Amino acid sequence: MAAVILTVTNNSGGGQPVSMANARAVAGICKQHHILFVLDCCRIAENAYFVRHNEPECAHLSYREIAQEMFSLADAAVMSIKKDGLVNMGGFLALRDHNLSNACTNLLIITEGFATYGGLSGRDMEAIAVGLEEVFEADYLHYRIRSTAYLGERIRERGIPVIFPIGGHAVYVDAQGLYPHIPPHQFPGQALVCELYQVGGIRSVEVGSVMFGKYDADGGFVPAPQELVRLALPRRVYTQSHLDYVIEVFEEIVRRKADTRGYRIVYEPPFLRHFTAQFAPI
Ligand SMILES: Cc1ncc(COP(=O)(O)O)c(C=O)c1O
Repeated sequence: MAAVILTVTNNSGGGQPVSMANARAVAGICKQHHILFVLDCCRIAENAYFVRHNEPECAHLSYREIAQEMFSLADAAVMSIKKDGLVNMGGFLALRDHNLSNACTNLLIITEGFATYGGLSGRDMEAIAVGLEEVFEADYLHYRIRSTAYLGERIRERGIPVIFPIGGHAVYVDAQGLYPHIPPHQFPGQALVCELYQVGGIRSVEVGSVMFGKYDADGGFVPAPQELVRLALPRRVYTQSHLDYVIEVFEEIVRRKADTRGYRIVYEPPFLRHFTAQFAPI
């Protein structure tokens, strides 16, 4: 069965929001072609924040009502609850169609076990129920989105190129813009990831040619369209002083940038190499 999955917000595209108009248009195309429309809603509350502040026709709605409106367009939803569920672990698949839901439950029996086996304990499910309520609180969402923007705007002022405007859950640094002297095949994003860890103990992730680069039929290197580094912010963990520390580390990164070198891969698995590849400095 074919399905379209719309991810709100856009994780690999800078954490940018999906507008209500965009979601409606996708739903319309799916309906026209009888294709299941699935919402990856793991950041739907953050998305609702942007929709309310960016789209005048939604300004009178609460964040929760905006999310409900978006859900009303979808046939199904998947959620990694570690994000806008405000809990450590868990996820769900929700389907409107009972036959499909039964088919998924039956498939689950031969893969993971009965739906009632308790992949999630009752305590965790209770925490999820609370998290899904609290995530729509205006104060929480405002603090969350402004914290991410604070980090992004401050490092931008210090000469770090970032995807702008800043997205919801993460700041995305343009590592190629920061290190024009490191060519894509020497992985400027990986160079920044290593710098951040070595200078400040900060963990980030490359979203560039390590993750999306390919080899052509002759083994030639095909770079990714962008060389980004994602600084994702866990929810309800950092205070402003933590982010001020990250900003100070970026000041040092700028001071060292002309001396920063690229990396080469010394080990890579046959697929999904970004999880386990090993590198050496050039
Ligand atoms: C948009 C999106 N969907 C799904 C997932 C997968 O989540 P999980 O690690 O809980 O399987 C992620 C994880 O980062 C994500 O960002």
